[in-house]
Amino acid sequence: MTMPLHIIILAAGQGKRMRSALPKVLHTLAGKPLLHHVVSTAEQLKPTGVYIVYGHGGKQVQAKSQHLSIQWVEQVQQLGTGHAVVQAMPFIHDESRVLVLVGDTPLINPETLRKLLSNTPESAVGVVTVQMPDPTGLGRIVRDANDKVIGIVEEKDANDQQRQLKEINTGIIVVPAKQLRRWLSEVKNNNTQGEFYLTDIIQLAAKEGIEINTMSATSHYEVQGINDRIQLALLERYYQQQSSEQLMRDGVTLLDPNRFDLRGELQAATDVTIDINVVIEGKVIIGEGCYIGPHCILRDVTLGKNVVVKSHSVMEESVIGDDCIIGPFARLRPGTQLASNAHIGNFVEVKKSKIGKGSKINHLSYVGDAIVGSKVNIGAGTITCNYDGVNKHQTIIEDNVFIGSDTQLIAPVTIGSGAVIGAGSTVTKDAPEDAITVTQRLDQRVLKKNRKKS
Ligand code: UD1
Ligand code: CA
Repeated sequence: MTMPLHIIILAAGQGKRMRSALPKVLHTLAGKPLLHHVVSTAEQLKPTGVYIVYGHGGKQVQAKSQHLSIQWVEQVQQLGTGHAVVQAMPFIHDESRVLVLVGDTPLINPETLRKLLSNTPESAVGVVTVQMPDPTGLGRIVRDANDKVIGIVEEKDANDQQRQLKEINTGIIVVPAKQLRRWLSEVKNNNTQGEFYLTDIIQLAAKEGIEINTMSATSHYEVQGINDRIQLALLERYYQQQSSEQLMRDGVTLLDPNRFDLRGELQAATDVTIDINVVIEGKVIIGEGCYIGPHCILRDVTLGKNVVVKSHSVMEESVIGDDCIIGPFARLRPGTQLASNAHIGNFVEVKKSKIGKGSKINHLSYVGDAIVGSKVNIGAGTITCNYDGVNKHQTIIEDNVFIGSDTQLIAPVTIGSGAVIGAGSTVTKDAPEDAITVTQRLDQRVLKKNRKKS
């Protein structure tokens, strides 16, 4: 028989040591709230239910987590981890298993949890433990002479001998629901902190002769809880190191893995080269042979093959075809689509526009709400005036158009294929195909210099 699995995530604590108005579990690691890391991991175990015990900053946490399918359980007063679990128990049937996770331990690996669940008989108790180089502040696993677990003792309640123990409780425990309910009702708060400790159920289980299985985490980072911003930063570095190494194993060159940040998901083909200080956010796909120059930010973008992104370019929600050249100092905003071989140069901003094959916008331009055909050349300082203060309007530039420098295209407007627009024009009406359109220019005058020397 396999019992249904219910997962309780403890997240009611205030996280005082963060010294923050933001609830601790909403602080981010790799761009994602700590709690969301834990929920994603929980979901991979295909549980029947996921319950989040919340307290401090509950509204904020819920507002940030609306996309998650979880059940919220309020713990009005934070009377300890045991008391926190009690709040969720009314929702859980006796004939099930309860896995308790901790909201501030973001890197717990689903594989470790799977092993914990499969190695622990359904009638037994399982605890994820680890050898901590510095176990200060953590609950210690207490074993008898035969190495059997007989309890967990919190640092504050431990004697000198127990404090020497390096094997610690990660806070991650699996217990049969029926027994858990009973043991929790027996837990008392007669300890140094005056709290109802979840960890006290271990001693109760051991006394009843119930098997207590321990499962080692792969490293202490995996089960590192975040209590302050120093631990958060250390764990962020650990995470970044792990993801960088994985990318390099997959065939990506990182010129300096210590200066690369992944805050989302990167799917990179082979022979992608990423220069220093690149930040990847959201979901990014990079095709074979691409080069990303130093100091670039890519958020939710897809790059085809052999794209060159030169330094200091910022790209979001854009799709880039093969062989494009972008930057340096380019800004591609949401809705940008570049067909193959397009060039976007320095100080060019593109928004919600399609740029055709082989077209070039190389200097100091703004192109927004535009459809640009293939082989178009847009000169320096061209601006699509897409906004009249109330509505946005579209600019259409057909194939093979040449737009002279410093042109304003007042949308809605269409430039017919093969048209040439003279430099410095302010185009308010559609320009015909294959003709030169130029708006009136002031005569060029030459005046005598008449400046006195003082
Ligand atoms: C707890 C464990 C300790 C373990 C450590 C691992 C207990 C008594 N101790 O200690 O053995 O080594 O975690 O990090 O369980 N929480 C609530 N409601 C409460 C109290 C806590 O939801 O009333 C939540 C917190 O938000 C946090 C988690 O439970 O996510 C752990 O609580 P915390 O106070 O950090 O426990 P520790 O003292 O670290
Ligand atoms: Ca903690």
